[in-house]
Amino acid sequence: MPDAAGSKPVEVFGVASGKGGVGKTTVSTNLSVALCQMGWQVLLLDADLGLANAQLALGVRAEFNLSHVTAGQKRLAEIMVPVRPGLQLIPGASGVRSMAALSVDQTEALIHTFEQIETAPDCLVVDVAAGISPGVLSFMGACTRRMVVVKDDPSSIADAYGIIKVMHQDQGLQEIYLVCNQVQSEAHGQQLHQRLADVCRRFIGLELPYLGSIEADELVLDAHRKYQPVVEFAPGSAAARDYRRLAHAITEWPAPQGVAVRRFFMNRRARGFTAAAGTAQR
Ligand SMILES: Nc1ncnc2c1ncn2[C@@H]1O[C@H](COP(=O)(O)OP(=O)(O)OP(=O)(O)O)[C@@H](O)[C@H]1O
Ligand SMILES: [Mg+2]
Repeated sequence: MPDAAGSKPVEVFGVASGKGGVGKTTVSTNLSVALCQMGWQVLLLDADLGLANAQLALGVRAEFNLSHVTAGQKRLAEIMVPVRPGLQLIPGASGVRSMAALSVDQTEALIHTFEQIETAPDCLVVDVAAGISPGVLSFMGACTRRMVVVKDDPSSIADAYGIIKVMHQDQGLQEIYLVCNQVQSEAHGQQLHQRLADVCRRFIGLELPYLGSIEADELVLDAHRKYQPVVEFAPGSAAARDYRRLAHAITEWPAPQGVAVRRFFMNRRARGFTAAAGTAQR
């Protein structure tokens, strides 16, 4: 809920998947750009700490990254890279083994450093590594909402259920949404969601809301080869339409609830963005 001053907590969404390579980074980067095109101030955290690649997907080069922050050599604000007006990236570290195996304490220390950022964004998008490592679960626990990306193949579905179960049953997390990637049609995505939602309801008593689907689209790969997000490379493509739809659904969400126990921007407020007006209140 917006507070008396009209501002609200910073939206923080984690983008996870059980299985690797199902489209987390593509969703995170395109969603960030689409939200930014809608007027939001967006910060994208590449929290895939061992094999970061959001930089490549956005076509930016960063001299410093999170490994310099955890080593105490740089402050978070010093490694933030402007990507577009309204979009900044916190680059992950690629090929740094010590980063791939950050402990829960180290991950939480990193999350705490977000309090240092001078101007809080409207939202933070957190692109995590695949799987259910302790670091991934700490990041997801520190978000206001979580999206699980799934593809219609048996291992992706089984692993999506696995991470949803761990987050909900073991970690007590709520606000978990499903994004169906590389589907043939919206109806196909809805069917995939229905299958997973039925299993979640039956076995772990969780309602798994559907956030949206992204069609399988060759132009996503063409865009990737050009180091561009498809929402900019081919705005008229089916995938770009779907990412914008996803962004639109997010702007319709009510303000996050229960953020007092969360840790990213725990004590900070967003500008109080109102989607209907398309403007910030302060
Ligand atoms: N909707 C789509 N249509 C076609 N190709 C896609 C789509 N979404 C993602 N891809 C492609 O799938 C591949 C994997 O995507 P991506 O890197 O986003 O996955 P990931 O889940 O972040 O992987 P990792 O687990 O390694 O971090 C990329 O080559 C990407 O271009
Ligand atoms: Mg990735």
